[in-house]
Amino acid sequence: MHTFANKFLIFFSLIFCFYACTEPTPNKEAPQASIFDITKQKISDSAMVVSAHPLATQAGIEILQKGGNAIDAMVAVHFALAVAYPRAGNIGGGGFMVYRDKDGSVNTLDFREKAPTNAHRDMYLDSLGKIVDSLSLTGHLASGVPGSVEGMYAAHQQYGKLAWELLVQPAIDLANEGIKVTEREAVAYNEHMRLFKQFNTHKNAFVKEQPWKKGDLLIQKDLANVLLRIRDKGRAGFYEGETADLIVREMQKTQGIISHEDLKNYNAVWRAPIQFEYKGYKMISMPPPSSGGICLAELFNMVEGQPMEAWGFQSAQSIHLFTEAARRAYADRTEHLGDLDFYPVPVQQLTSQAYADMRMQDYVDSIATPSDSISHGNPYPKESEQTTHYCVVDAEGNAISVTTTINSNFGSKVIVEQGGFFMNNEMDDFSAKPGVPNQFGLLGNEANAIAPHKRMLSSMTPTIVEKDGQFFMAVGSPGGSKIITTVFQVITNVIDFKLPLKDAVHLPRFHFQWLPDLLYHEEGAFSDELLEELKALGHTPQSRAPIGQVEAVLRLPNGQLEGVGDIRGDDDAKGF
Ligand code: DON
Repeated sequence: MHTFANKFLIFFSLIFCFYACTEPTPNKEAPQASIFDITKQKISDSAMVVSAHPLATQAGIEILQKGGNAIDAMVAVHFALAVAYPRAGNIGGGGFMVYRDKDGSVNTLDFREKAPTNAHRDMYLDSLGKIVDSLSLTGHLASGVPGSVEGMYAAHQQYGKLAWELLVQPAIDLANEGIKVTEREAVAYNEHMRLFKQFNTHKNAFVKEQPWKKGDLLIQKDLANVLLRIRDKGRAGFYEGETADLIVREMQKTQGIISHEDLKNYNAVWRAPIQFEYKGYKMISMPPPSSGGICLAELFNMVEGQPMEAWGFQSAQSIHLFTEAARRAYADRTEHLGDLDFYPVPVQQLTSQAYADMRMQDYVDSIATPSDSISHGNPYPKESEQTTHYCVVDAEGNAISVTTTINSNFGSKVIVEQGGFFMNNEMDDFSAKPGVPNQFGLLGNEANAIAPHKRMLSSMTPTIVEKDGQFFMAVGSPGGSKIITTVFQVITNVIDFKLPLKDAVHLPRFHFQWLPDLLYHEEGAFSDELLEELKALGHTPQSRAPIGQVEAVLRLPNGQLEGVGDIRGDDDAKGF
């Protein structure tokens, strides 16, 4: 294995231990043990849950042990994350689920937020047509109509086995009894305190006099009450009645435009997955309004046929090939991708091998193509920083892969008064103005322009991989624009570079997205020698903060399951 990769692993493990295990409290007490029993790698015989918080993982495991299936566990994990991991876990946001049942039937559920009825194309521009700073990112106008509760409810109605009430209850208990915050969560609350105060003058669970520190108890009574209504009334407990009143009242404090009608009419949509083959594996991923499945198909189709395995993990040649493929895929994303219900995305063409071959015709293995000389392709026929992922595999072999988000850390920073939950700032994922990048540096055009009831384009890429007709892997990540490249790397690390899952997830990552024309890599990931090689090929490497935070489950050759949570967070894998 790459020696720098080893050093990186040690570096990250030290950082993780520092944060998770031995971080001294400010009053200089003796180092504390980790608050939770966090397992980064777990091998089990029949079932597995991996999520970004150990209490959410535990909630899922307990549901499986009570005889629940993967969908039941998903509901429990989702609501538990809304309590224990409020920076991204949510009821005020949305997401996507990819599902593969024990017999190989597949489905996806789109519970992405929708633009409110009163949204319009230029809603974030001033009278001169310039973007108004932060309007799509913080405050009431930044939110789309939340989809998470409808998503959980619809999935449960379709596939659930245990009673709904049983699945929501663990989250209610966590919110009422309180959870001890981890070091990472305490740091995040303190870092966002100024914004919490700016956007919330009412009493809430997150603003307090003293800075948060590891081990403090976070009790969320308002959220518990909302969850009680969801438990007792299902989707109506959120989209109608008292909770809807609270959301609309919160919106009306300033410029928010989400109405009772918007909430009542929110719908989740079952969509056919994007499916494609790569080296004998079948990939099952998310269609638009996620860009994930299409971009993943483009990336895999563009690199297939190249000797990646012989070049080796993070060799200059394999990074170069990957970068050139990503350059083309992200240029296509900018031009062609948006909500399928509003824009005719050319899905079949973009995901075809012929299209990938055409796009790579100008690929040169010895020099990078400058991004300003690459544009989107023509797929038409001639005439024409926070999200979170979790995976569950149950004892029967049903699997789910879910990515959910309120977009940025703590979404719009608005906490619904007496509701106790953060609203999303997903509207920033639309293209507010052609040519102006969003918070992830992503550009967009007509395909992703704002329109009432439209869903904003996403990069979330929950994915399931099948081999020889059997479940092989479930994987996904947060990271905005970096989600697609993160998922791609973890899968190629396993399939092409034959890395054990733990290394495939924990080892350093890199990212490229066409524009800006920079090859991002995690701090300390590339050796000086590799950096020189990449520069000689015409790339511009730049180090940056951690890329992605992956949860993954793999079926081992002996039939056991291996779950791995990322070292880049408090992620935890449990199984039995
Ligand atoms: O849907 C998307 O692509 C973004 N809203 C995801 C945001 C995200 O991953 C932020 N996390 N780091």
